[in-house]
Amino acid sequence: MVNLAIKLKEGTKKAHTAAENVGFVKCFLKGVVEKSSYRKLVGNLYFVYAAMEEEMERLNQNPIISKINFPELHRKASLEQDLFYYYGSNWRDQVVLSSAGKAYVDRIREIAKTAPELLIAHSYTRYMGDLSGGQILKGIAQRGMNLVDGEGTAFYEFEAIPDEKAFKANYRQTLDALPLTEADADRIVEEANDAFGLNMTMFQELEGNLIKAIGMLLFNTLTRRKTRGSTELATVE
Ligand code: HEM
Repeated sequence: MVNLAIKLKEGTKKAHTAAENVGFVKCFLKGVVEKSSYRKLVGNLYFVYAAMEEEMERLNQNPIISKINFPELHRKASLEQDLFYYYGSNWRDQVVLSSAGKAYVDRIREIAKTAPELLIAHSYTRYMGDLSGGQILKGIAQRGMNLVDGEGTAFYEFEAIPDEKAFKANYRQTLDALPLTEADADRIVEEANDAFGLNMTMFQELEGNLIKAIGMLLFNTLTRRKTRGSTELATVE
């Protein structure tokens, strides 16, 4: 038995701070959210969660993965709902996996084949983060993009988890009870740091898009090309 939950929390502290400091994330936290960048992120997350959840389901007979695969955490269906909102009914034809998103998906597929226990690191990095900041991020997204409640934020709603704090405690206990060695745990922490890195690269990719959109807004304001009083950001593809 190893204290995997603490090891993960302590061992990814620096990576967490680094992720919070990526420009795209910082802008988001300040309420600078722009639909064309945000929906690209939702698109990438869709492919990432779909891969992670599919691989964990496939490994449901694996003695370690089966214990950490909680269907109530699954985000694929909620991301589909959000993509429908942002892109419309033909979202499947429009949504694109970026190169950073592809690297992330490729890594998930690879370890599922070669070292499935490392999927724990990916589950931890995404779901524990989602459960921790979900409600705050939801509010920011709603205010930043003028969303009506319930539209485009299904991702943040864990309908089958009424008490997120209690669920996190249970998830941590489950991590600690997994039959792993210290060496396994160290490898999982290493993989979690890589997972943070993959997320950061994905956010960095979106930064250029956001900067372009802000630039357009500034340009439009300066040249008054848009309707006076409009605060809507110009869409950048
Ligand atoms: C938007 C910027 C972010 C903020 C403000 C933020 C904030 C937080 C907060 C307040 C917690 C709760 C800590 C606790 O329960 O003791 C947390 C936990 C966590 N966050 Fe973030 N976070 C951010 C970004 C991220 C990102 C980008 C990831 C990874 C993709 C992430 C992954 C995690 C994980 C895995 C935990 C659980 C730590 C643990 O208890 O083991 N966070 N975050």
